[in-house]
Amino acid sequence: MYLSKSNFDFTGKRVLLRIDADVDLKKKGKGWVVDEDYRLSCALPSIRFLQEKKVEQIVLLGHLGRPGGKIVKDLSLRPVANWFEKRLGKKEKLVLLENLRFSSGEKNKDIDFVKKLAVPGEVFVNDAFGSSHRDHASITGLPQALPSFLGLRIEGEVKTLSWLKAHSPRPLVFVLGGSKKGKVDYLDFLSSWADQLLVGGKLPKLVQNLKLKAKSQKKKLVFGKLNKAGKDIDKRTIKKFKKAIAGAKTIVWAGPMGVYEEKENRAGTQEIAKAIAESRAFKIAGGGDTHRVLSQLRLWSCFNFVSTGGGAMLQFLKDETLPGIKAIK
Ligand code: 3PG
Repeated sequence: MYLSKSNFDFTGKRVLLRIDADVDLKKKGKGWVVDEDYRLSCALPSIRFLQEKKVEQIVLLGHLGRPGGKIVKDLSLRPVANWFEKRLGKKEKLVLLENLRFSSGEKNKDIDFVKKLAVPGEVFVNDAFGSSHRDHASITGLPQALPSFLGLRIEGEVKTLSWLKAHSPRPLVFVLGGSKKGKVDYLDFLSSWADQLLVGGKLPKLVQNLKLKAKSQKKKLVFGKLNKAGKDIDKRTIKKFKKAIAGAKTIVWAGPMGVYEEKENRAGTQEIAKAIAESRAFKIAGGGDTHRVLSQLRLWSCFNFVSTGGGAMLQFLKDETLPGIKAIK
């Protein structure tokens, strides 16, 4: 059930709000500050909606990185709390819990951890689209403990991505990059859905090792090659990818083409990002690493929609739902 459509009486209620807080930080002095804040900005409409409904308190829940069930100082959500304080002012009604993944109970969906999380709330709102492909305590556990709703961001993502899946103009070119191994699982689906699938970064190497079924869709798949240093796509790949991009009517882009964090390995990603941005196609991008590229190259306004999800966007496009959405519907 969507928050915007519910007639639940939120007045005076304590609300747990799961948000996408997995953002890029940068060092400032001895501490960290938020560097790329797109995902945090996307949480603001639901926060404002709840404030207008005169809730007593909003408890924000989120994770940062993959600390593996241990406290990792550099992955504290303190900089995120500072960001919200700066943006919304010091409101007693808004608190942010520390990184949920500091506890192994989050990933293991431990029942006692779910119960503990539920304590400060009377109602739960999930607005973390980018994490809703995970079967974790704060995503699929809390809906079993509290009356639950889907937030405004998730509603917008579902609307746009459902349209994309069913009605996007063809040819559709999907540009897949990044280094998260899990993306390999989507190659079969993407190569059957898209008219052309361009795969960059480290992924082609992983595919060779895993011998995926996707090879049956070979003519639609273009595997990029890495340059000598092995940290960026080579010039021939850039040329090939640009040619495919130029012919597209819809482009979906998820993930950089190389080790974008390192200046000397940015060229491939930059060229592909600019080629996508200049195209007249309908354009969608998604994922934390992609947000960083959009910010650095100032390309946000060239895209029709930017999803908060990377892996979540891929899974939604494949299954037309996510575990975190199913848990509430
Ligand atoms: C993301 O960055 O895609 C989300 O925060 C999910 O992160 P995860 O892949 O570590 O679950």
